[in-house]
Amino acid sequence: MASTTRYLLLLLGVLSVAHASIFLKARFQRDRRNIRPNIILILTDDQDMELGSMQVMNKTRRIMEQGGTHFSNAFVTTPMCCPSRSSMLTGKYVHNHNTYTNNENCSSPSWQAQHETRTFGVYLNNTGYRTGFFGKYLNEYNGSYIPPGWREWVGLVKNSRFYNYTLCRNGVREKHGCEYPKDYFTDLITEDGINYFRSSKRMYLSPAQ
Ligand SMILES: *[C@@H]1O[C@H](CO)[C@@H](O)[C@H](O)[C@H]1NC(C)=O
Ligand SMILES: *[C@@H]1O[C@H](CO)[C@@H](O)[C@H](O)[C@H]1NC(C)=O
Ligand SMILES: *[C@@H]1O[C@H](CO)[C@@H](O)[C@H](O)[C@H]1NC(C)=O
Ligand SMILES: *[C@@H]1O[C@H](CO)[C@@H](O)[C@H](O)[C@H]1NC(C)=O
Ligand SMILES: *[C@@H]1O[C@H](CO)[C@@H](O)[C@H](O)[C@H]1NC(C)=O
Repeated sequence: MASTTRYLLLLLGVLSVAHASIFLKARFQRDRRNIRPNIILILTDDQDMELGSMQVMNKTRRIMEQGGTHFSNAFVTTPMCCPSRSSMLTGKYVHNHNTYTNNENCSSPSWQAQHETRTFGVYLNNTGYRTGFFGKYLNEYNGSYIPPGWREWVGLVKNSRFYNYTLCRNGVREKHGCEYPKDYFTDLITEDGINYFRSSKRMYLSPAQ
């Protein structure tokens, strides 16, 4: 059962420090922290065969297939929005994180207490990654807090909307209207994500800052 959302969620974990150099073994040993890969996770929705949604996304197909790769098979344990997102964040099956639907236990107090403290964001941050999240989070996330592990946080309050939505931007609620150039959700999180990536790169290039 696919969710009806039509959004692009950008999930970015970016390590701000130097790129790997296989030649600098001494440095490798001295500074292991600095050679771990940057990780960018982009989560998109509803690109399923049944809806034929990819047929109207020629540009995406071109970019992903020609510039990247094509997966002829994909597997998911629970193809439903909040349960699936909760699984991606924690690596747990639904029967272990107890988010069975898009409402029950989705971003609930028990989720917050037991599972949200152990997402990959938390682990990446704990090992020194600079973590950033941009986009829709969990369907019932109410924007009253920044989930643990994310140093930069732009999370959509509640479920998918492209206009007239509220964000939690690093703990501050930000309301958006319906003007395409400044409010269209997909573009906004893309821009935020890219700016974050650029600033991380600058930090690497200018470590004195
Ligand atoms: C996408 O490309 C196919 C041909 O590969 C074409 O038939 C179709 O009209 C295109 N769709 C859009 C939305 O441009
Ligand atoms: C919510 O999760 C708790 C444990 O985390 C579980 O005991 C409870 O049955 C779940 N509630 C629902 C409605 O699924
Ligand atoms: C949002 O969720 C938090 C944690 O579950 C809760 O404490 C708070 O009262 C909720 N706020 C709103 C405005 O619903
Ligand atoms: C990231 O990890 C550090 C070190 O464990 C911790 O002090 C900090 O509070 C964490 N930040 C977030 C946003 O979780
Ligand atoms: C957003 O809210 C405005 C003002 O209430 C309304 O006119 C408009 O139709 C809404 N747009 C969408 C896409 O919900």
